[in-house]
Amino acid sequence: MSEREQWSSKLGFILAAAGSAIGLGAIWKFPYIAGQNGGGAFFLLFILFTLLLGLPLLLAEFVIGRTAQDNAVQAYKKIAPGTNWHWVGVLGMITSFVLLSFYAVIGGWILIYLFKAISGQLDGLTSEEFAVVFSNTIADPLLSVGFQLIFMLLTIIVVSRGIQKGIESASRFMMPALFLLFIILVIRAVTLEGALEGIQFILQPDFSKVTSQTLLEAMGQSFFTLSVGVSVMVTYSSYLPKNQSLPHAAVSIVSMNIFIVLLAGLAIFPAVFAYDLEPNAGPVLLFNVLPTVFNQLPFGMLFFIAFLILFLFAALTSAFSLLEIIISVISNGKPEHRIKWSWIIGLAIFILGVPSALSFGILSDVQIFGKSIFDFADYTVSNVLLPFGALLISIFVPLKMKRSLLYSEIKKGNWIKKGIFDAWYFTIRFIAPPLIILVMMDVLGIW
Ligand code: PFF
Repeated sequence: MSEREQWSSKLGFILAAAGSAIGLGAIWKFPYIAGQNGGGAFFLLFILFTLLLGLPLLLAEFVIGRTAQDNAVQAYKKIAPGTNWHWVGVLGMITSFVLLSFYAVIGGWILIYLFKAISGQLDGLTSEEFAVVFSNTIADPLLSVGFQLIFMLLTIIVVSRGIQKGIESASRFMMPALFLLFIILVIRAVTLEGALEGIQFILQPDFSKVTSQTLLEAMGQSFFTLSVGVSVMVTYSSYLPKNQSLPHAAVSIVSMNIFIVLLAGLAIFPAVFAYDLEPNAGPVLLFNVLPTVFNQLPFGMLFFIAFLILFLFAALTSAFSLLEIIISVISNGKPEHRIKWSWIIGLAIFILGVPSALSFGILSDVQIFGKSIFDFADYTVSNVLLPFGALLISIFVPLKMKRSLLYSEIKKGNWIKKGIFDAWYFTIRFIAPPLIILVMMDVLGIW
């Protein structure tokens, strides 16, 4: 184990794990899913699921990873040798593969906007014009697939260089900068004329809009934004030295995530209502609304460009983690395999993502179970694969890891009250599995 790379500092790990968590999920996906699910009630459910399930599961993945100090498949093999539990890791790899395939499409959209903003093509447009320019751009097969490819190439290059150099160093200053810019954006958005309705939309729960589908989407969203259920966090925490506190890391990541989701909601919805836009516009929501808000700021385009760079970075750090989990299993710690496999797998993911990219243009008529190809991929990952992975992890931990061992792993590096440990254990063992099953069954109509 001594040759395994380790994070150079605890902050490095937290930033990289937070980098995996904070990405398109909080900034792009949350606003549009919340917009489609009635706003405030969805936000509240999202917070509840994040605290009740997401946080305990994140900690569970950390514990698995650091106990085993191995990749997402080997970790389960080490803890439960001779069993089939390593399939949880394989499932995580498959989930990552599909997730990254459509994630890169949105990453490409950021690049498109960045390119357009820098080249002055967005100057002086009205909100309607932005929407038109944007939908025309993403409908263009060459542009959307081309930029999706560039996003994947960036991901491949960084992951093939190895975890330390690739991921840790840049996270240090980009994340705080993103927070700062978001705060400026929120201040502008909430002071727009007509903003109040948007603030109410996202902060005032209207439970009449809650259906079993809303519950599933809120649960899926909380797993998606925390990168839980994929064993990515198992992989990341396996690089963590033994003297660092896992609960501390988990709580910091969850708080940062909730904070950024709140900022995203408060940046988007006031503007949506102030400019009479549609809250349920779907995946294009953020891309239609944001430029309009930035336009209202002095030096708006400059701020917009800075925001896009940071947003791109947030998306990339999540993408790195998705590719990293697959590569760390396949290359099994051998650096000479890392480069080759990063390219092979990365390009395969790109190819799988092409139909998703085209589903906003030439393949827009293709429907799977009433959804576009993109929506179908996203829905399957968020509402089926992630909850299923999370369910298996919540069964695995109490079943295959001794309670005393869990306690000693969790209290390393920091003193935590036994009561907190007990509450976590109880949640993972008795609350998470039935709750996840219930929410999933309800929607499948089995209930
Ligand atoms: N948490 C990332 C986001 O919110 O954008 C997406 C993600 C990354 C999900 C890694 C799952 C994962 F394993």
